[in-house]
Amino acid sequence: MGMKKKLQKIGPMTTLGLYLLVAGVYLKTSMLIGAEVPSPSGRIVLNFNRHWKFAKGDIKGAERPDFDDSLLKVVRLPHDWAIAGPFNPKENGYAGKLPWKGVGWYRKTFTLNSLYSGQRIYFDFDGVMAFPKVYINGKLADQWDYGYMSFRIDATEYVNFSGTNVIAVYVDTRQHGTRWYPGAGIYRKVTMTVCEQVHISHWGTFVTTPEISDSSATVRVHTNIKNHFYTGSEICVEVMLYDPDGRTIATIRQNNTVPAHGSCELHQSFVIANPQRWDITSPKLYTVRTVVSIGDKVVDSEITPFGIRTFRFTANDGFYLNGRGIRLYGVNLHHDHGPLGAAFYTRAMERQLEIMRDMGVNAIRTSHNPPAPELLDLCDRMGFVVWDECFDKWDDKADRIRGEPPLEEYGEKQIRNLVLRDRNHPCVVIWSIGNEIGNQPYDREGKSPERVKYMSDFVRKYDPTRPVGISCHIPGTVDQPILDSLDLAGWNYARRYSRYRQRYPDKPIIYSESASTLSTRGFYEPTLPNEKTQFSKQLQVCSYDLNSAVWSDKPDVEFQLMEGDGFVAGEFVWTGFDYLGEPTPFSQEARSSYFGIVDLCGIPKDRFYLYRSYWRPDTTTVHILPHWNWPDYVGKKVPVFVYTNGDSAELLLNGRSLGKRVKGRLPEKPANFALAKATSASSLEMDKGNIVANANDGDNSTRWCAGSVGPRQWWQVDLGEVMPVGYLAIEFEREAKNYGYDIKASTDKSNWKTLVTKNTSRTPRWGGPRHVFHDVDGLARFLRIEFTAMREGTWASIREFGAYPEKVESTYYDVTYKYRLRWNDVIYEPGELKAIAYKDGDKIGQATMRTAGEPAIVRLTPDRKELSTTGEDLCYILVEAHDKKNTFCPLANNLIHFGIDGPAEIIAVGNGNPLSLEPFQADYRKLFYGKAILVVRTREGRGGQIRVSAKSVGLRGTDIVIQSSK
Ligand code: GAL
Repeated sequence: MGMKKKLQKIGPMTTLGLYLLVAGVYLKTSMLIGAEVPSPSGRIVLNFNRHWKFAKGDIKGAERPDFDDSLLKVVRLPHDWAIAGPFNPKENGYAGKLPWKGVGWYRKTFTLNSLYSGQRIYFDFDGVMAFPKVYINGKLADQWDYGYMSFRIDATEYVNFSGTNVIAVYVDTRQHGTRWYPGAGIYRKVTMTVCEQVHISHWGTFVTTPEISDSSATVRVHTNIKNHFYTGSEICVEVMLYDPDGRTIATIRQNNTVPAHGSCELHQSFVIANPQRWDITSPKLYTVRTVVSIGDKVVDSEITPFGIRTFRFTANDGFYLNGRGIRLYGVNLHHDHGPLGAAFYTRAMERQLEIMRDMGVNAIRTSHNPPAPELLDLCDRMGFVVWDECFDKWDDKADRIRGEPPLEEYGEKQIRNLVLRDRNHPCVVIWSIGNEIGNQPYDREGKSPERVKYMSDFVRKYDPTRPVGISCHIPGTVDQPILDSLDLAGWNYARRYSRYRQRYPDKPIIYSESASTLSTRGFYEPTLPNEKTQFSKQLQVCSYDLNSAVWSDKPDVEFQLMEGDGFVAGEFVWTGFDYLGEPTPFSQEARSSYFGIVDLCGIPKDRFYLYRSYWRPDTTTVHILPHWNWPDYVGKKVPVFVYTNGDSAELLLNGRSLGKRVKGRLPEKPANFALAKATSASSLEMDKGNIVANANDGDNSTRWCAGSVGPRQWWQVDLGEVMPVGYLAIEFEREAKNYGYDIKASTDKSNWKTLVTKNTSRTPRWGGPRHVFHDVDGLARFLRIEFTAMREGTWASIREFGAYPEKVESTYYDVTYKYRLRWNDVIYEPGELKAIAYKDGDKIGQATMRTAGEPAIVRLTPDRKELSTTGEDLCYILVEAHDKKNTFCPLANNLIHFGIDGPAEIIAVGNGNPLSLEPFQADYRKLFYGKAILVVRTREGRGGQIRVSAKSVGLRGTDIVIQSSK
């Protein structure tokens, strides 16, 4: 492409598209062609991940340089010692049943090039779990007190520039508090930086874009320079700006003096014409290159990518990016990577984001900790917006033991590192100072207004350009001025934000945790649950996507909520991926969560397609569930659901049509005997219109309320004639746990039989369902509910009371017919199910599900075939069993053995079963509902072919070849 054409695109003001703004700016007419930004010089940054030695346990003297470490295990970072196991079946599953608690030592011997003598040596740790103490040549160089935070160690005065050095890191997780699996060890990368005594401070560049329009953007570059000399230094700082194609567009040069043992701050401004926006659809990145010179010598340089975008969160209209209203389709992601544990690999993260992107995700919440910095690089590059979070609680989960050190000192220190590290990333749009902080508004560690203000002010001190928020879960928080100092608030679950909206009508709201739907990939029970917390006895959660935690809901409820509450910026689903720990509802038995939209290995569950069908309305999704292998159900009912972006679909079984379903159309239900029948009650709130007939008018937005407070209020319905009543469905005004009651039946209004007695309960602690269902067996003309006890200021009140001859699907599930297509009564026969989906009358796609025969073949499908020899590149290989006609076998649980040949090694296996206590580090794995994952890592510096093989007794094995090259 001709230079002229390219240049004209840059700006209208000159043909070169560049112009001067401040004194000291000069035009750089000699353009740098091509997409390459020159690499920095004056500073050397070395990967410090290889050749560490590791041992578990408190080894005396392990920090000493002369300590004999010949027997220690050689490891490569990132390293999570606990993921190797073994699992402890007796332990509660909240933290993954893995041995993460303990002490460990890492040692590495290194030499420094003698040319480095007189320079500064720094070690940058992106994350060490937990409480690392870093010794260099036997001396404690520094320590850090938050396992998720990046920190820098200045090693200059401890290293030898000739001869060997030993860096030893002591890690102690015993005091670390957690609600999930934290990992253990140096689980993120380490780098060594060598630079001159005068250099750009760590995270010392801050690029802001205070004014942006379509025709121009102001770019300000703040640079902090440090001088470790005993005398002041005259420096020249050159700041160059490159456009997204790598062309230099402007340069500013400025001279300054850095005082002895001090620092100086420089501010430079540019104006760019016709800026290319960073956006989720087209994430254009500009680059600042800062070069510091003393005389003719370049002493330091740094490259800082940044983006030009506008965004705002509004109170009434959600989120805007570059002036465009965008609904946040977000997911929460914990820091672990399933079978890899906490060990962070960029490729593992990139794969997570690719999978989420395919589903339609545009926003990530780094729940509940600072992420690895590469996550933000990837989000910048791939186009996600990020909720960047510092803490879960402000107690031992943030590594503050019994409240020490004081929150002010501790908070500033951690927030400083988080904000300085991450503030140049265009993807970051919110700083969160915490998740669900404290249970009592004013408890010792709780979120008193002063503390929230302290924390948010620290954030603003380091970055005044982004809003500061928190994730809340207690609606009553808003009765105190606790959230006053925040710019916005995230709320977790069940529309708890409604009180906040009343209290702070001018502040934006984000649904920071939604859904917490539960399911196990591949596991189904054809008898559908009728309550969200009606779980299978098999310790797996049915994948019809009708179960959730008691405090939360299924995806459809949240879709509808977000459609109605346009003022909310959007939702962050809990969670995108399953994670180790927090295995609600089987907290004791299982070791990893059921919350994920994809399983622990990244294999999509059915829900993935439900989100995809809704979040990507213009991309074809047609997905059938369940599988079609039900030998014990021939002639019995097996419900079939289809998730599609179409508005309707036809289902065919072995070529026979089972009818068309249309989104939004509810199926017929058995008659409600109580509907619109004569009612009476002990009292009513006549003045508010909460009349007796409201409780059986078929409209759950109206209700009957007793006029008198306290127990022994009753409501009664006359069915008109004696009926056989088999099922009662009641929707209360508040959470059902708050009501204690008896339900009685009578055929003559004088002899009463008690059908149901229910007490109040304290669980769940926050929220809970408003619906209750009772299987009953009785003849009744009159049905009466008598309230016996009420909690938490609840009064006697009913939205809807229904009486049925037999079980009827809860109205709670009505909303599913809006987003899914459901055939509830398909009579199973083996063969082929086919769904043909339509949108506005046109066929948009189809899917088939076939009954599989016996497993006959192992199939391997790698996610990539070309890898790099970095020693940190990964290939995820999907392992499946197929029958001899190549149909996937959804029930296969064969044990598969793997082999590898070539410059790579197997680093993990997994299969998404939350109950499995098989090791993640092995060369074998049982399939779980037909699938497993094998993770292979390349060897550093060694290219070539990698042959991976899979074998299983009775199955035809398979080999695949992938390539690793420089
Ligand atoms: C939230 C909490 C999350 C996770 C989730 C499970 O209240 O913030 O960390 O525990 O519940 O539903």
